[in-house]
Amino acid sequence: MACNLALVPSPVTWYEAHMLAVRTPSHLDADACAAFRSAGFLSVPDFADPGDVARLRSLFVRLFASPVGFTAGDRGDLIGDRGRVGTIPQIVHLERYEPALLDSPVRQRGFAIARDLLGGDVLLDCETAILKVPGSPDSTPWHQDEAFWSAETTHDAISIWIPLQDVDADGGCMEFIAGSHRGEVRPHQAIRDVDDANGFELVDVDPRYRTICPLPAGAATVHHSRVAHSSGPNCTAIERYAYVMVFVGPRRPPPVKREFMWQGGRARDKRRVASRVGLDGLLNRVLRRAAIVVAKLNAWNDRRRYSG
Ligand code: NI
Repeated sequence: MACNLALVPSPVTWYEAHMLAVRTPSHLDADACAAFRSAGFLSVPDFADPGDVARLRSLFVRLFASPVGFTAGDRGDLIGDRGRVGTIPQIVHLERYEPALLDSPVRQRGFAIARDLLGGDVLLDCETAILKVPGSPDSTPWHQDEAFWSAETTHDAISIWIPLQDVDADGGCMEFIAGSHRGEVRPHQAIRDVDDANGFELVDVDPRYRTICPLPAGAATVHHSRVAHSSGPNCTAIERYAYVMVFVGPRRPPPVKREFMWQGGRARDKRRVASRVGLDGLLNRVLRRAAIVVAKLNAWNDRRRYSG
């Protein structure tokens, strides 16, 4: 799938966007929002406190050591395919396996930032746990998240990426191409052009224009669903865990009809079908609903207890 159009780098404020500190603990100020709109991403220091990071990390260690998610189709490898076992295992729809996340401060912080950047009504679409094993030679290839979604609606969405240990370029931190969210969704192909690959990669991207975002544990990057991004191999001797929340704002039909040709005939579709009809998928949905009801009852009880 050839493409002669490179992503156009932006001369704008990527440096400011990367370095900008959030001055309040749970909300972005106007400068941070403006920098995000300009660059398509933002680094947020002190996103999660050390206790929450430690709890999430021990949860991830436990989940990845267990078999959760396999039968529901929620467990796989970020870039693997049928003929190749990758080194970036992930668990999607994490909330199905850990209902305690429903009330976590990290999630509440995510909602606050999503509302700041997307406006009023936002939906937490997915939570994912990602492990890049020590010595992993695999990069997460350059892509735009919107290329994975339906072409029939445009998506104003953000992903919040929270490392659960310090991470730099050697450990596989996030990298972005500033301003690339202001163009269209560019042509993608299956990773390594292998049909069964569990994801897509941009066909034409110039990594010379990337911004590398090393982060301490508990900081986060926030990126728009259309900005081009990737992360490198994990050349360190420790596990690189990351917690990702995807928030979506209003969906609208695209101004011009579009087609994402790269989405045909993928292993990913098969996983989705398995997730829809599998007994475990059904059980997970019931448990998730129950967890939501319990969380609402707890919140109602708290309000009642503290309202007078
Ligand atoms: Ni992505």
